[in-house]
Amino acid sequence: MPRDPIEYVWKRKEELNAVILAHYYQRPEIQEAADFVGDSLQLAIQAARTDAAVIVFCGVMFMAESAKILNPDKIVILPEPKAGCPMADMATAQQLRAKKATLPQVQVVSYVNSSAEVKAESDICCTSSNAVQVVESLSADVPILFVPDQNLGNYVARRTGRDIMLWEGYCPVHHQVSLAQLLEAKRAHPGAIVVVHPECPPEVIDAADYALSTGGMLELVETSPAREFIVGTEEGLLYQLRKRNPDKQFYLLKTEFVCPDMKLTTMDKLVQALANLKPQIEVPEEVRVKAYRALDRMIRIK
Ligand code: 13P
Ligand code: SF4
Repeated sequence: MPRDPIEYVWKRKEELNAVILAHYYQRPEIQEAADFVGDSLQLAIQAARTDAAVIVFCGVMFMAESAKILNPDKIVILPEPKAGCPMADMATAQQLRAKKATLPQVQVVSYVNSSAEVKAESDICCTSSNAVQVVESLSADVPILFVPDQNLGNYVARRTGRDIMLWEGYCPVHHQVSLAQLLEAKRAHPGAIVVVHPECPPEVIDAADYALSTGGMLELVETSPAREFIVGTEEGLLYQLRKRNPDKQFYLLKTEFVCPDMKLTTMDKLVQALANLKPQIEVPEEVRVKAYRALDRMIRIK
C-alpha cells in the first residue's frame, strides 16, 4: 500500500484518464477518493456521460455492469469482483424467460439491481428514484411485471394505482427492518422526521414520513427545515448526510444497518485495481445490446 493512498489514487487516476464513481453506501474513505458519489440513478447517468477512458466503479456488480453496458468501448473496473447484490441474484434470466412464457402480454420493468442478462429480458429499467415515473410512462393496457424487488414494486403499485405483478425478491439489508424497530426509534427521538428506503417492507414505509432513494433522502434533508432525522437505509449514507448537514442530527433506524457487499471495497482494493487496471468487467455483446435498450429507455425519462 503506498504511504499516502489518496495521493496515489489521484495521481494514477490522471495517468489513466480514469473516473472513480462511488455509491453512498461505500466506506467514507472511498467516498472521499471518488470523483462522484451518488445514488444508483445518478451514477448510471454519470457513467453514461463520462468521457474518461476508464471507469472505476466502487459499488456492486450490477452497477459496474450497467456502466459497461452504457460504455462498451471503455474499461470498467470493479475493485472487488465479489461485491454482488443478493437481491439481484434472486432473479435469473432463465426464470424470467420462463415467467414471461406464461404471460400472453407483459411489460417487464427491472430494477437496476439485477444482472445484465435480466436487464436484457426487460422492456425498461428503473431505480428507486425514478420507479414511479418509469411505470407511469408505460402503456396502461399491458400488464406489468416488476423484477426483482417485491417491496419497491409494491410501493410503486400503490403510488401509481397500477396493477403490477411482483417478483418475490427482496434486499436482505432493507427487508429485515421491522415496524417495531421503527416505532422504537420514534420513541427515542420523538421530534425526528422518519425517512426510509422503498426497499423496506410496506408496513415500515407506511409508518414513515417519507420513502425515498438515497439521493432523495439527501435532497429532503438539505431542503427541510427539520433538524432531526431517523434514517432507514444503509449506514454509509450517514457519512454524506453528516458531511453536508453538520448542523443536523441523524439517527440510524436500527443498529447494524450494513450491506456487507458494499463494504467489500476498501482503499487497498481501490489502490490495487488502479495499479493493475483490473478486475475488468465484461458483458457479452448480444446481452449488452438488449440490456442497453432497457437502460437507455430509463435514462431518457426525465
Ligand atoms: P439507491 O441508490 O437508488 O437509493 O439504491 C439503493 C441500493 O440498494 C443500491 O443497491
Ligand atoms: Fe443489494 Fe440491498 Fe446491498 Fe443494495 S443494499 S446492494 S439492494 S443487498
